Amino acid sequence: MSFINPNQTALVLAPMEGVMDAQMRALIADLGGFDYGVSEFIRVGQEIIRARQVLLEIPDLNGPVFGHAKLPLQLQLLGDSPELMAASSIEACIAGARAIDINFGCPAPTILRHSGGSALLKTPCAITEIVSAIRKALPAIIPVSAKIRLGWENPNEVETIARAVEDGGANWITIHARTKQEGYKPGVHWDAVARVKSLISIPVVANGDLFTPEEVIRCEAESGCSHFMIGRGILKNPFLAHDIRASRSLPALRTDIPDSLADRLRFAIQRYAILNQDKAANSGFIPNRVKHWVGMIRDISDTVPRKILTAVKHARTTPELMEMIEE
Ligand SMILES: Cc1cc2nc3c(=O)[nH]c(=O)nc-3n(C[C@H](O)[C@H](O)[C@H](O)COP(=O)(O)O)c2cc1C
Repeated sequence: MSFINPNQTALVLAPMEGVMDAQMRALIADLGGFDYGVSEFIRVGQEIIRARQVLLEIPDLNGPVFGHAKLPLQLQLLGDSPELMAASSIEACIAGARAIDINFGCPAPTILRHSGGSALLKTPCAITEIVSAIRKALPAIIPVSAKIRLGWENPNEVETIARAVEDGGANWITIHARTKQEGYKPGVHWDAVARVKSLISIPVVANGDLFTPEEVIRCEAESGCSHFMIGRGILKNPFLAHDIRASRSLPALRTDIPDSLADRLRFAIQRYAILNQDKAANSGFIPNRVKHWVGMIRDISDTVPRKILTAVKHARTTPELMEMIEE
């Protein structure tokens, strides 16, 4: 199973805590097109996270979908203690993790209070220590990577931060091309990612606002990257990874992809309901999950068909949801 192969484009499904959980990942794995996914973060606080807890938080880590390499899953850890992070990464591998990613980008206030995530962007030497502790704790067959933002407030900070990641021995780095202070403000800095590319020798995965194949082409031209991580774009267009593959003349992986966005969303929602039939005992489960998903789309797009949004908003049970979507 491969995660990043330097000579081959990788399309990576981004971690999205509270959105891209085991059920959504199963859907995206089923729709296909990605090379691997990254789990939402597990926070390593005052204690080592044991294998049992890893599996409670990421139940699909070793499940049938990922176990068959349909969409290999990399486990993400977040914390600021090199020792606890290293010990927890060993436990994660006991639980079945085949690659570890370290979160240095999370801007959430609760995380920052405990000095994890993007707070560490201010102290590159702490980044090196954490990466290095985990790298040394694990056998070479388990890749270790880091996911960063460009810096705390200035995109130029990224050069020192990326070097700190490489110095720690990471196998690759993923860069969300904004600073912590920029949050999700429109506009990403591919030029800063390009500077990192020419500075370090490990592979760089570009991330941020890749919503269409055209944006991926622009990202590649401006950053020089050929590995791409997609987050919110997949919620709006569940077949985005296939569109990107087609734009790069990679072999098609399926032939039944609907043309319009509306039909694609309908297809994905129906598939989601089928994959989660065992949850039907709780009649609100699927409609509630789909409402959350569609709510996120509203934040990033005004082009999603109103009809679908309305159908989803009014559905209370799965049969109602399916009927409204059919109509
Ligand atoms: C709801 C949500 C949850 C996120 N959770 C995580 C996370 O657990 N770990 C992480 O590294 N990034 C997390 N991110 C950041 C994304 O992985 C990604 O870097 C960011 O959304 C930019 O990519 P995009 O424009 O393709 O969405 C999250 C983003 C969102 C919107």
